[in-house]
Amino acid sequence: MRKGKKKILILGGNGLLGSHCHSTFSKDYETLSTYNSIRIDRKDFIKFSFNSFNSNFSDILSEFKPDFIINTAGLVSVDGCERDELKAMQLNSFFLKRLIHDLNILKLNKTHLIQLSTPGVYGNSSTGLPWKETDSTNPISVYAETKLLSEFIVEDYPGPFTIIRSDFYGINPYSEKSLLWWIIKNAKKEVEMDGWQNIYFNPISARKLAEAIGNIIEESLLGTFNIGCSDSCNKYDFVENSCKYLNLKAKVKRVDLVNDKIRPNYSITDCSKFFDMTSFYYSWEEDLSEYMTNLPEFPLKLTNS
Ligand SMILES: NC(=O)c1ccc[n+]([C@@H]2O[C@H](COP(=O)([O-])OP(=O)(O)OC[C@H]3O[C@@H](n4cnc5c(N)ncnc54)[C@H](OP(=O)(O)O)[C@@H]3O)[C@@H](O)[C@H]2O)c1
Repeated sequence: MRKGKKKILILGGNGLLGSHCHSTFSKDYETLSTYNSIRIDRKDFIKFSFNSFNSNFSDILSEFKPDFIINTAGLVSVDGCERDELKAMQLNSFFLKRLIHDLNILKLNKTHLIQLSTPGVYGNSSTGLPWKETDSTNPISVYAETKLLSEFIVEDYPGPFTIIRSDFYGINPYSEKSLLWWIIKNAKKEVEMDGWQNIYFNPISARKLAEAIGNIIEESLLGTFNIGCSDSCNKYDFVENSCKYLNLKAKVKRVDLVNDKIRPNYSITDCSKFFDMTSFYYSWEEDLSEYMTNLPEFPLKLTNS
């Protein structure tokens, strides 16, 4: 099939990852993105709110007939999921059941379904070794439980599917809800921030992750993949370096995150399965410096603050 003719439906296209996917794919693919609460007045965006089993979802599918669906919609706040388990379960898990049901009814089983999950599904580590896709899962929060359930549901989809376990960062031009924006905003106002020195991860920028999804689409990479950068850092280093690349003097306090029952003590993933299949291989500093020198638009409301 020729490039440019394929169709991508991005669920949650105004979210952090979704907005990067939209700008990455809209050049070469017919792209339709959905928004929920933050209205986007563009012809390549459409409203879709999943809060009951009655929604316009099957109409979107039957009219657009996507070759690929990237599901970035979700209730992403770990604390928010603890507060509202039903909402978390509905959006992060049940929705996948509905999506697959509709794809089956509409006989769209050739549609490649790409589901975003989290390294949080692995839970706490006692070995201190990077998680492999084959390791057993042991989620410790409602958020991670609902994401793991979504994986089980997607694994029953009869068509092609890919599950991505990734921690990513970036600026969402449509929202102030992101770690990186929080860092930049606080650094600009010289507000002291806590940098968790005992929490390690291997984050990837949302732009690089969107490129990685491009590889998945182009090469039809199916199955479950950890996707992150090739090395790791702690959250303190991440906050410090983010500010360094923007020439902001940050006040970052080295602290330990203790007595937290819902965030795993270790989130570093072994991404060799993905690296071996692609040319993807970036250190976190290389990726961060590249991202920070070419930042997307800042959240609109705060541009002048
Ligand atoms: N951020 C991370 O580091 C991270 C780590 C691991 C996994 N993930 C997973 O990656 C995916 C994307 O994360 P993100 O950080 O890009 O999320 P995000 O910025 O919070 O975006 C979430 C998207 O979901 C949409 N949405 C929320 N409620 C909805 C509803 N009831 N019906 C339809 N759409 C709804 C939002 O639309 P509105 O804004 O218009 O409401 C938004 O477009 C999520 O599945 C998340 O679990 C994220």
